[in-house]
Amino acid sequence: MKQVNVGLIGFGTVGKGVAKALLSKKKDLRERSGVSINLVKIADKDLRPRKGVRVPKRLLTRKVDSVIKDRSIDIVVELIGGFHPAKEIILKSLTLGKHVVTANKALLAKHGKEIFTVASRFRARIGFEASVGGGIPIINALRRGFVSNDIELIYGILNGTSNFILSRMSEEGCTFKRALKEAQAKGIAEKNPKLDIDGTDSSHKLAILALLGFGLNIKLNDIYVEGIEDLDPMDIQYARDWGYEVKLLAIAKKIGNELDLRVHPTLISSSRILASVKDENNAIFIKGDMIGESLLYGKGAGSLPTASSVVSDITEIAKNVGDFKKERSAFRLGFNSGVKKVRKINDLTTGYYIRFAAIDRPGVLSGVSNVLAKNKISIATVAQKERKKGQPVPIVMLTHDANEGRMNKALAKINRLPFITKKIVKIRIER
Ligand code: HSE
Repeated sequence: MKQVNVGLIGFGTVGKGVAKALLSKKKDLRERSGVSINLVKIADKDLRPRKGVRVPKRLLTRKVDSVIKDRSIDIVVELIGGFHPAKEIILKSLTLGKHVVTANKALLAKHGKEIFTVASRFRARIGFEASVGGGIPIINALRRGFVSNDIELIYGILNGTSNFILSRMSEEGCTFKRALKEAQAKGIAEKNPKLDIDGTDSSHKLAILALLGFGLNIKLNDIYVEGIEDLDPMDIQYARDWGYEVKLLAIAKKIGNELDLRVHPTLISSSRILASVKDENNAIFIKGDMIGESLLYGKGAGSLPTASSVVSDITEIAKNVGDFKKERSAFRLGFNSGVKKVRKINDLTTGYYIRFAAIDRPGVLSGVSNVLAKNKISIATVAQKERKKGQPVPIVMLTHDANEGRMNKALAKINRLPFITKKIVKIRIER
């Protein structure tokens, strides 16, 4: 039977899950794949035993090079995250003829082109199923399952931390800060959750999905990103009153030869399946010309779900180790999907939720609607949430589809009206 050796670099949360799966499921994997996958080395700075997994001491090393340079190792698994030294580890492994499996979305989103090019040159494979959606096999779905489809739309909840926080704010009416504390106490949010809550993590994952779905190498700066840090529970509750949930959505939508690419808090109708994706779960919705609509749902983070995807890549590569040398293309970097460029956010057309605080007196609404009308923005619903004569009160409205550029222009003007007391809140609606 074919023997394939694996070296693991990074023995953290995911690394631990991978070691556990490779050691405890060795026989199952062998029966299912026809290959014997041997975990032969684990490199990490910290060699203390990990709870829940028993690893033979002889496997452990502090020296990353002893994994990369080990001639017996066929597949290097990079699970340390971040840019450096992860990038160097991956490139060096590839140039030494090893295949690589990684969960490093930030690195692939920023340096994917270089990494895939090197992989192709050295006829090595690179697996990155775990980089998006944790245990959800979205990369496989796009690369294989849906390969015959022209993809029109990919959108979803790609960050478990943000989704957990939004679920708490929606269900308990608590503030962002309190919900974040709960997420940290439960081990869902990291100590420094910045990249999760400011939308960056979702934008990295969206860049990878856009490459697979639309063949476009995205510059991260081309993705419009807003996080959830400034969301007020008041808006989540008002949105609920009108039958909407607020979710941090990552959206890639083909419009003609442009790709609309954005990450931001979004109102979606409570009747949509995505609205009922709660807590740290992820869900990704795909629309293709053959499949119609498809939704993948599951755990977007965590030791075992993410390890499940890593082991899937290891197994797929292991089955073909030795055969790749004939084939140059490790991964087709881009293809023609008809998309030529990323659409500018100001060209977006969508519905909006708007809240402003205004002095409760006659003429306020007509003043606001006048500015909106002049910018071709049509109001769908409006409600004043309190009554306090002569005092500031919240007024909320939903608009019909409008142009983002015009909307921003209108809001800047409304902000300057004398009866407006606070900065206007604007949240986009996805219908
Ligand atoms: N930190 C991410 C999340 C999981 O909260 O979804 C890893 O991508």
